[in-house]
Amino acid sequence: MLGIETSCDETAVAIVRNARDVLSSVVHSQVALHAPYGGVVPEVAGRSHLDRILPFYRSALAKAGLTADQLDAIAVTHRPGLIGCLLVGLSVAKTLALTLELPLIGVDHIQAHVDAAFLAEPESELPLLALVASGGHTSLYLVRERGHAERLGATRDDAAGEALDKAAAMLGLGYPGGPALERAAANGNRSAVTFKRVLLAPDSLDFSFSGVKTALLYHLRGPGCVRPLPDLDKAARADLAASFQEAVMDTLVRKLALAAARTDARTVAIGGGVARNTRLRELLADDATLKGRHLVFPPLDLCSDNAAMIAGLGGYLLAQGKRDPLALEAVAKGI
Ligand code: KG4
Ligand code: ZN
Repeated sequence: MLGIETSCDETAVAIVRNARDVLSSVVHSQVALHAPYGGVVPEVAGRSHLDRILPFYRSALAKAGLTADQLDAIAVTHRPGLIGCLLVGLSVAKTLALTLELPLIGVDHIQAHVDAAFLAEPESELPLLALVASGGHTSLYLVRERGHAERLGATRDDAAGEALDKAAAMLGLGYPGGPALERAAANGNRSAVTFKRVLLAPDSLDFSFSGVKTALLYHLRGPGCVRPLPDLDKAARADLAASFQEAVMDTLVRKLALAAARTDARTVAIGGGVARNTRLRELLADDATLKGRHLVFPPLDLCSDNAAMIAGLGGYLLAQGKRDPLALEAVAKGI
């Protein structure tokens, strides 16, 4: 199965056998391209996908030691994402499916983040509870049947990664914020400032991260932003990074634990760019409610955007009989 991913700012192509063996996976992150703007510029992202997608297709085949006639099918992210970006991958996937006379499988990007758990650990037992936390999404899913994740809760405002990115920008730590904040936090005291954990109603599985972001802003500039941003020294910045990261990761863990307590999930998995975070992984491993469930922490490259997860889920869906028409559309919104 050839997988193609161009939904946001990673161009990725991968080849996966039997929905479990990754034969090749090439990824180009456009982070450097978007860094001057402090966020992803859709038009710039789409053009960069266009430049790389065909060389990456050839490179994925070469790395797997295969030729195009050995492919069985083409899987492609068709939702959710930036329309101009999705269309690049979708056009290439349709062209390959048509010319090579292969089945086309449209894959939901978020379902694929969840499904990465099966690439990391193919024997993961169901039901599987998954947290997907990235720059655009923060949601909890329950999977009773592979490929069919049911959403239990989602953020009502900012995604966790978005809050981390904005906090890092306020602290002058650069873009993308999550990794920069994590690096700065390594030398900081995570109890220096207690940012409130926003949990919404006691039984809610939804998230809200806009409040903690504002709390940091007011901490720096006073309520109502009456002061200019202070000149922070390295130690003060590290303490704030560690305290802010702790509030976000602790909130994610508490919600995952609440969901685990309310479901019969045997496996608990994480995915999305924020799942790369070491402190999140530490807190999850230490959580009392999650003890006794099998935790799947996919390798870092399977957490952030990649095409192996698209080819993996695509391969599974193909075996289930799924086929999509060449009229398959790009859709901005997900499940
Ligand atoms: O899944 P992803 O690569 O792209 C999408 O947004 O779909 O996730 C990117 C997000 C960004 O917000 C980034 O700051 C965050 O994941 N991130 C991290 C880490 N690495 C990336 N957040 C916390 N710790 C990290 N190590
Ligand atoms: Zn993603």
